[in-house]
Amino acid sequence: MMTRIKRFVRPGQVLVSATVFAAMLPAVAGHAAEQVSFALDVKPILESRCVSCHQPGGDGYEASGLDLTSYQGLMAGTKHGPIVVPGDPATSNLNVLIEGRAAPELLMPHDERPLLRYQQLIIRDWVRQGARNN
Ligand code: HEC
Repeated sequence: MMTRIKRFVRPGQVLVSATVFAAMLPAVAGHAAEQVSFALDVKPILESRCVSCHQPGGDGYEASGLDLTSYQGLMAGTKHGPIVVPGDPATSNLNVLIEGRAAPELLMPHDERPLLRYQQLIIRDWVRQGARNN
């Protein structure tokens, strides 16, 4: 009996799986608690994927009034009102649009490749944590 188990599960294998599992735990458990920073995490995403259109003179700004060059601009929203509901990414238009939960033609960035999933999650966590200017 013992020799049979030993043949299938070698000590080295057990050690590797345990190490991999232990290394994964903080990532899984820590996800919700990790503090997202507007300046360090969110702003660089807006700058690389949104600001070309959402600044004075850009298509997105001229059409919607949304200026994504600053925290103040993001929180002011469009000419129709705010796009961020602090604490509530489920109803925040910002999250609805970048996650493709609205009509496909409203997906942001407009006519471009969507944000990567991890970028969508950074912005989602930031809104969930209160959308602070941190
Ligand atoms: C290639 C240009 C372009 C890029 C890049 C772009 N947008 Fe837009 N955006 C537009 C245009 C044009 C509009 C107005 C027309 C519309 O609502 O579809 C708009 C409108 C919006 C609106 C308002 C929609 C409404 O309900 O009124 C939001 C919110 C928005 N963009 C967010 C973003 C975010 C966030 C990014 C980056 C992830 C981004 N946009 C990138 C062009 C762009």
